[in-house]
Amino acid sequence: MSVYSALRPLLFRLSAESAHHAGMRAGRIGQRLGPITRGLFRPRLSEADRTALRSRVMGLEFECPVGIAAGLDKNAELIPLWNQIGAGFCEVGSVSARPSDGNPKPRAFRLPDDGALINRMGLNNHGAERVARRIGDLRRPKGFPIGINIAKTHDPSILGQAGIDDFVESTRHLLPHGDFVVINVSCPNTAEGKTFEDPEALAPLVRAVATERDRQAALPGRSSVPLLVKLSPPPAVDFDTGPVDELIALSLECGAAGFVATNTASDRQGLQTAPAKLASIGKGGLSGRPVRERSLALVKHLRRRLEGSAPIIGVGGIDSVESAYDRVVSGADLIEIYTGLVFEGPGLVGKIAKGLVKAAQADGFESVAAAVGSRV
Ligand SMILES: Cc1cc2nc3c(=O)[nH]c(=O)nc-3n(C[C@H](O)[C@H](O)[C@H](O)COP(=O)(O)O)c2cc1C
Repeated sequence: MSVYSALRPLLFRLSAESAHHAGMRAGRIGQRLGPITRGLFRPRLSEADRTALRSRVMGLEFECPVGIAAGLDKNAELIPLWNQIGAGFCEVGSVSARPSDGNPKPRAFRLPDDGALINRMGLNNHGAERVARRIGDLRRPKGFPIGINIAKTHDPSILGQAGIDDFVESTRHLLPHGDFVVINVSCPNTAEGKTFEDPEALAPLVRAVATERDRQAALPGRSSVPLLVKLSPPPAVDFDTGPVDELIALSLECGAAGFVATNTASDRQGLQTAPAKLASIGKGGLSGRPVRERSLALVKHLRRRLEGSAPIIGVGGIDSVESAYDRVVSGADLIEIYTGLVFEGPGLVGKIAKGLVKAAQADGFESVAAAVGSRV
């Protein structure tokens, strides 16, 4: 029995958010006890396994393609911990230009029968300046790319051009500290209830962030940082590809390098949880197992469209070696996990990393990277 499965019944007696804070406190302690945390959670890998896990994506070197999804470490407080448990990278944030407390509590809920969560955190974070300072002060783990996810400040009065300026301000502070930046245009928990996934809103936003990126790249000693756009899950597995194709084309035209697929879903499709419980929870983004097939379908579509010309990070419902490898062979260069960690614990990262090597080798590939997109 793993440490986490022994503790899970106790953690699950707490509300989802209290359990998250307890986990963060334990993580802070664990991070200070680096070698012990490594010993407990990091997978033991042979040199051959390590070689098979390495990949080069967006011009960056990754020791492992398994990363931590946005939302888990919004304020970049546990970057060394993610490295210690065996992840190859993390995406911190979402961070917004202004700090925000987010929505009133309760705002996060577990659906154990579905292996899912519903959250309406509302982009609570310490704000771009403070998070930038924190990452700047950090002794960064070597060979561990840090992605920074940016979103608009949770304030419905910040609209239109002011919304774009808000993203640009975050980019100005945070870009010097990130190896890649993710533009969160698909958060379903915005104060105004709207996302930026509308071509008219998306194009000027990506262009403005890319302009700030290019301005900074021209400064002495700096280089260009890849921008990725984070998309929503499609409404169904066999979705109408027209609207998403428009977003893909516009994003690339306006300066994005690739995509993160996907964010949480605002619908309640395919759930076992009783309707009365869902009604009592109310609004929020659905994550975990119920979004798995739709997120996978979008990764497959992106891969077919892009044919390996732009990086894809696959996220949504990955909670096992099988679901992770499925995402890889469908076209994800890298994968990320959030909800799976809540249900399975931090050992999941190492378990998936080891399992990916085995699965790729069983299919005759020398590395996990060689298996990317092999079954599209
Ligand atoms: C509690 C919670 C908070 C999240 N916060 C963010 C966020 O701030 N920014 C973001 O881009 N995604 C956020 N996400 C979405 C995750 O990054 C991920 O895209 C989604 O949960 C699907 O992956 P999963 O099924 O592995 O959880 C959040 C998810 C959860 C469960």
